[in-house]
Amino acid sequence: MAADTVEPRRLLVTGGGSGIGQAVCRIASDRGMQVVALDTDADGLAETSAGTRISTVQCDITNEDAVITAVAQASEMVGGPIDSLVAAAGVYRIKPAVELDGMGFLLLMAVNVTGAFLAAREVARHLVDSEVPGSIVFLASMASESGDTHEPAVHYSASKGAVVSMTRQLAVEWAPHEIRVNAVSPGVISTPMLRLTDDPEAAARYLQHGVPLRRLGRADEVARACLFLIGSESSYITGAILPVDGGATIA
Ligand SMILES: NC(=O)c1ccc[n+]([C@@H]2O[C@H](COP(=O)([O-])OP(=O)(O)OC[C@H]3O[C@@H](n4cnc5c(N)ncnc54)[C@H](O)[C@@H]3O)[C@@H](O)[C@H]2O)c1
Repeated sequence: MAADTVEPRRLLVTGGGSGIGQAVCRIASDRGMQVVALDTDADGLAETSAGTRISTVQCDITNEDAVITAVAQASEMVGGPIDSLVAAAGVYRIKPAVELDGMGFLLLMAVNVTGAFLAAREVARHLVDSEVPGSIVFLASMASESGDTHEPAVHYSASKGAVVSMTRQLAVEWAPHEIRVNAVSPGVISTPMLRLTDDPEAAARYLQHGVPLRRLGRADEVARACLFLIGSESSYITGAILPVDGGATIA
């Protein structure tokens, strides 16, 4: 089958127990994909899979051996190599840079960068070994594009800058194997991770002046963009960073 007609069928979603990852799992499953949700959070995974055909695997993506085992388990659960990955697991911590120590910096990078890399590498290894084409989507952030005075988080913005660079490098490196690699770059999305609404007045001001569409995004809006980049509708797109931010980065 030509690469441009291949439709991925077996999807792994890290961070599948909450927010954007959970929305990806549900929409993909509704569309008939075989979906495995991966997360550290057992309750979140139970919520994602309740009343659906979604499989689950509990795993910490910073643990390399656990990721290797989890990807193999996921392939067994769906009866063949996982052929697509949405790497949505991530953490967000606000901390002024002068108060941030090296361990705090490293721990966040371990999840957002190393963990995302390990999941992608392991999926790619299986695809290369089985000579199956595939598609990978990372979650970047508009924090990789600009600084933020209200929510200082240098470790988070640095991690998402690294995700952007990783997307471009892996897109080039894995293109000969017909593995496409793209990223979605969300703005302010209403999920448990969002901190903007901790201060409702500041949130209202920001949405009025900083977001042309003047509202928060929804998890399902980001999920649909992820699934566009996963599926054959985007067959000639690789190495792209797709903003899903209501226009925030161009305002
Ligand atoms: N919500 C936003 O406004 C926003 C904006 C820009 C980017 N993003 C990015 O989108 C992605 C999804 O965010 P969300 O809003 O759905 O957040 P969320 O907090 O709702 O979900 C993140 C999930 O990742 C899981 N996770 C965290 N560490 C993990 C680990 N070590 N191993 C496995 N799973 C782990 C959590 O348990 C959680 O279920 C993240 O990468 C985030 O940085 C979100």
